[in-house]
Amino acid sequence: MSHIIAPSLLAADFLHLDKAITLVNKSEAEWFHLDVMDGQFVPNISFGHPIVKAVASKCDKVVDVHLMIDRPEQYVQQFAELGAQYVSFHAEATNHVHRTIQMIHDAGAKAGVALNPHTPVETIFDVLEIVDLVVIMSVNPGFGGQKFIYRTLHKIKALKDEIITRNLDTLIEVDGGVGLHNAEKILQAGANVLVAGSAVFKSEDPLDTISRLKSTGLDNLQY
Ligand code: DX5
Ligand code: ZN
Repeated sequence: MSHIIAPSLLAADFLHLDKAITLVNKSEAEWFHLDVMDGQFVPNISFGHPIVKAVASKCDKVVDVHLMIDRPEQYVQQFAELGAQYVSFHAEATNHVHRTIQMIHDAGAKAGVALNPHTPVETIFDVLEIVDLVVIMSVNPGFGGQKFIYRTLHKIKALKDEIITRNLDTLIEVDGGVGLHNAEKILQAGANVLVAGSAVFKSEDPLDTISRLKSTGLDNLQY
């Protein structure tokens, strides 16, 4: 399977959300990544239910909600019902990772677990069989436009090896500081989904950037 591009709304012009949605709809991106922040789990507040609902209603692509919020179990059902096909939450934000995955599935969505740069991938090995997506944070969550932390490439590789050993089809999404300069390395480490905020929306030609991210590294992938 070829890799998936997920532009992140966080880097778009919030005065013109409709333009961002139209652009993503027209593009080769398969997913649209929406970052929800609560000002508690991360030191920033982004947007919540009304924006996710509005975007989901107009978006033809897979809506991929990334919850950077404390106690996500309180909200996952609502986000799934608003139209998110993937709902991801942070393992660090709850004592109930397994239960929260079940809640997302019960609400009819696919479940993702996100890991901060310092959190070992082994943290989620005991739920790997039931999770659909693992989000490897390659920056500290909370802000767009940060530098990719290269150490996280080891985590992607370790997770990919475990997924292959167990013969699972869990997807690996990499989020933060991803762009044309490092996409190939990240894909070679084993990523399936590339989130790109600034690299797409701050570029001169976002459609072309998405297309170039999509065609990156197709010839020499290890996996
Ligand atoms: C960061 C968010 C990212 C962010 C990525 O906390 O989770 O999804 O939008 O932005 P860039 O691609 O600019 O690093
Ligand atoms: Zn994100």
